[in-house]
Amino acid sequence: MGVLVVGSINADLTVTAPHIPAPGETVLGRELRVGPGGKGANQAVAAARAGARVSLVGAVGQDSFQANALRLLQAAGVNLSGVQVRPEATGVALITVSAGGENAITVASGANAALTPDDLPADLSLWTHLLLQQELPPDITLAAAQRAHAAGLHVTLNAAPSRERTPALLACTTHLIVNEHELAALAGEDKDVAEVARALLTAGPHAVTVTLGAQGSLTVTADGETHRLAAFPVTALDTTGAGDTFCGVLVARLAQGEALRSALHWAGVAAALTCTRPGAQAAMPDWAEVQQAGASD
Ligand code: RIB
Ligand code: NA
Repeated sequence: MGVLVVGSINADLTVTAPHIPAPGETVLGRELRVGPGGKGANQAVAAARAGARVSLVGAVGQDSFQANALRLLQAAGVNLSGVQVRPEATGVALITVSAGGENAITVASGANAALTPDDLPADLSLWTHLLLQQELPPDITLAAAQRAHAAGLHVTLNAAPSRERTPALLACTTHLIVNEHELAALAGEDKDVAEVARALLTAGPHAVTVTLGAQGSLTVTADGETHRLAAFPVTALDTTGAGDTFCGVLVARLAQGEALRSALHWAGVAAALTCTRPGAQAAMPDWAEVQQAGASD
């Protein structure tokens, strides 16, 4: 039992503006908000709030952003003994949120970029599930996947942000989660989404989930299952952290023995709720709210 997340920790510096600036443009936005983020930390918080026992391997700096970056991880009860304090700066994400709730994000990785395979725990068999993203250096992500795969863990890869396709990483992945852009980057966009997702099953994963925003999600499995789930209807104010909520909640529910389709349902409801509030971790629902919203759905 238990989920190990190996991933990034950032402080998010967010400004809401009428629209996301085009190259060369200056846009006047509203007040600056500083909150905890990073895809790894976000997914760890989402998983913990969905009831899983969660540990995080990551890094922060010894600076003014550190406490903010760690505070909701601590509050959620995530085990942070694998988080190092390093000489580099805490990772920072510069986020612009548009009036329509969309975002554009630029990350200064700082301490996250200094992590190496040596920073992984020696014994991965303490966990049943590993959850990875693509915000850390590729060699630590690949080493984590390979060691976890060899130890028999269920390995989930959220291939965000997009990177060049790595066959060795996909070969060790049990469940791949991507959005439409990341799917296109991995497999091309010439065909129907379900067909492209099914083609990726031959690269290693037993399941491929494509998150489709307001269109919900599509999951195909090597056993021939197809799950199309409609999105839980909300008015999106800030979609930051929605994908991370989906991944964290999905893995948390699977780790607690829930069936795939029902875990996908809860993940979709939680991700939608995250879009209704500003910020990433600060916007994530607790389990009681997810259950209440999703029960009537
Ligand atoms: O997925 C959202 C996250 O991406 C933000 O919290 C930001 O820190 C970047 O890592
Ligand atoms: Na949000």
